[in-house]
Amino acid sequence: MKKDSFVSIADCSKESIVRIIQKTEFFEQNPNQKLLEGMICASLFFEPSTRTRLSFETAVNRLRGRVIGFSDAATTSSSKGETLKDTIKMVSNYADVIIMRHYLEGAARYASEITDIPIINAGDGANQHPSQTMLDMYSIFKTQRKLEDLTITMAGDLKYGRTVHSLLTGMSHFNPTFHLVAPEELKLPDIYKQFLDKQAIRYFEHTDFSPEVINESDILYMTRVQRERFTDLMEYEKVKNVYVLNNKMLDASKDNLRILHPLPRVNEIAYDVDDNPKAYYFEQAKNGVFARQAIICEVLGIN
Ligand code: CP
Repeated sequence: MKKDSFVSIADCSKESIVRIIQKTEFFEQNPNQKLLEGMICASLFFEPSTRTRLSFETAVNRLRGRVIGFSDAATTSSSKGETLKDTIKMVSNYADVIIMRHYLEGAARYASEITDIPIINAGDGANQHPSQTMLDMYSIFKTQRKLEDLTITMAGDLKYGRTVHSLLTGMSHFNPTFHLVAPEELKLPDIYKQFLDKQAIRYFEHTDFSPEVINESDILYMTRVQRERFTDLMEYEKVKNVYVLNNKMLDASKDNLRILHPLPRVNEIAYDVDDNPKAYYFEQAKNGVFARQAIICEVLGIN
């Protein structure tokens, strides 16, 4: 059985992304399978989560595997000073795969280097969130019936937003055009712009969340300004309400536009948008179960 970790979307070829999307489609049609019977999945969440943890655990349950783990590291021996290395080595003795969210950038990569069982990165600091990307790309595919040649607007916290960093990397295989809407303080880091330049991908940076940008978009990917990433809370206060999408702003948008958000939202999408047929963020979160079923099978070499 081939075993591989899923740490960054940058490690995934176009072919493997397409394969995971096809598997996701299969699991949406056939969610209950006995593919993980007899297997144990460790779910280690060193940072808070609702959707990622619960959808991964639902995915394991739907595949008839068993879950061990924690959702609050304060209840574990890491609170006594046990290192991440020792924790991963211990859990590797108990489980067949580790699903892990950690506040340190690079933590999942580090974990993958010290164990022989697959690590699935469920978010590492402001770095990457590759399983979110797979459900985002599946949601894009489902709503647009293609991945190629789309215009995608990302708005909000592009600096610390790990879902943004992973999504633009994943979509880079499919000739997108990006509009990047962020205040100066939260602009996309240079390293990702250099990546886009190297791939010859068109992108346009804006500080204004203008009707022109919204009306050109096929996908509008809203993000939360993440309070937990700021060391200076005064800086957070300055930008926390920088963009708020409301229904009126969608009046002249394209028919095929869909609004995505990795969630949780705070107030960057007004509640009146929820009933707009172009709002897709709750279905997007539901797709997370199927995408995560596909990822777990992929890392365990289960076809
Ligand atoms: N999208 C996402 O990662 O949500 P949670 O933080 O609730 O897992």
